Amino acid sequence: MTEYPPRRFSVAPMLDWTDRHCRYFLRLLSCNSWLYTEMVTTGAILHGDRERLLGFDPAEQPVALQLGGSEPGELAQCAHFGAERGYAEVNLNVGCPSDRVQSGRFGACLMAEPARVAEGVAAMVAAVDIPVTVKCRIGIDEQEDYATFAAFIDTVAAAGCRTFIIHARKAWLQGLSPKENRDIPPLRYDWVYRLKAERPGLEIILNGGIRSLDEAEAHLLQVDGVMLGREVYHDPWLLAEVDGRLYGEERPLDDRLAVAQAMLPYIEGQLAQGTHLKHMTRHMLGLFQGQPGARAWRRHLSENAHRPGASLRVVEVALEKMAAAGRNAADFSATRSGATGAGDVPSDPAPGRREYIPVGLTAASLRPTPGSRSEGTSPAGPVVLDNEMLVRNE
Ligand SMILES: Cc1cc2nc3c(=O)[nH]c(=O)nc-3n(C[C@H](O)[C@H](O)[C@H](O)COP(=O)(O)O)c2cc1C
Repeated sequence: MTEYPPRRFSVAPMLDWTDRHCRYFLRLLSCNSWLYTEMVTTGAILHGDRERLLGFDPAEQPVALQLGGSEPGELAQCAHFGAERGYAEVNLNVGCPSDRVQSGRFGACLMAEPARVAEGVAAMVAAVDIPVTVKCRIGIDEQEDYATFAAFIDTVAAAGCRTFIIHARKAWLQGLSPKENRDIPPLRYDWVYRLKAERPGLEIILNGGIRSLDEAEAHLLQVDGVMLGREVYHDPWLLAEVDGRLYGEERPLDDRLAVAQAMLPYIEGQLAQGTHLKHMTRHMLGLFQGQPGARAWRRHLSENAHRPGASLRVVEVALEKMAAAGRNAADFSATRSGATGAGDVPSDPAPGRREYIPVGLTAASLRPTPGSRSEGTSPAGPVVLDNEMLVRNE
């Protein structure tokens, strides 16, 4: 079995967000973080376009396949398909509270059926030799006590799961939307800490509401790993500190510009295979978050990447506009304070595309591996101005 880094830091599975293009982009920021697919239902895998749903680029590794389902036989089959394709882990979703998911009897409602989850886990464990993990909540609805939560974990652990990713708040199956269920029920980190203290043999990953690496490091004193979702998606540069701070390694690329640059050959390759530009650039909108020129970058991509025939040039121009806006901001602040420079925005005139390629990176070294597919798992959606990015409503 391939050796992967420990799960000290993971990026959460997020439907419509962590598709393969997103994961390729995030991987440029951290070599060690674990990445998760969006939840894929067993029904979709068994009856749908399996290649499109499961295809990924080996450069994304370590990447875990998250399954939504509850029929042990189907879970086992899908876990097998995932392992066969080279996923590093298969994870079962026991945390999603959406109505659609409840009607299929999987996701968070399975917190009420520990024996059923255990059966599914046992079937998957028997079918694959990669780790089978579970992502769950601390409870649902009226489940208020730690003992019920701990009993759920024990039942599932007895079936062969030793890694639990715990979103440290419960979910209300009625009355709250999935988005509200990510914010309103209070976080109970203490329950997760206690679980780890009482069951040191289990690998416990804490998820929910973590906003910075300082917070992550504090949690890591109590648990084995942390998983961040929204914060990483909105401000992906946070990942650039992960290898240095949590794994004692150099970050893969020096600055944000180098990351954008490193995406260009990938984007070029995907465009050639028929992927629309917007499906890739929508995940990159937050790259320059908080930097001079960030707004110009976002705006140019948001207004142009969805246009028919949008090409790599859209990204190049966005970079030029970002650099120009950054220079203006730097000039402005220099006239006020005598300071120079604008973070990692270059101070030279906007360079042409070839000059963006950072030392040590060649287009060839970053090209997608042959055989990788063009389509992500997300349905095509309009990109336009991404309100999730402009107004942080998540
Ligand atoms: C847009 C979006 C989609 C999500 N989709 C999934 C999913 O497919 N599977 C899952 O287990 N959790 C999903 N989640 C929940 C996250 O994995 C995570 O548990 C939650 O956002 C809390 O972590 P955070 O506070 O770091 O964002 C989703 C969250 C968001 C914001």
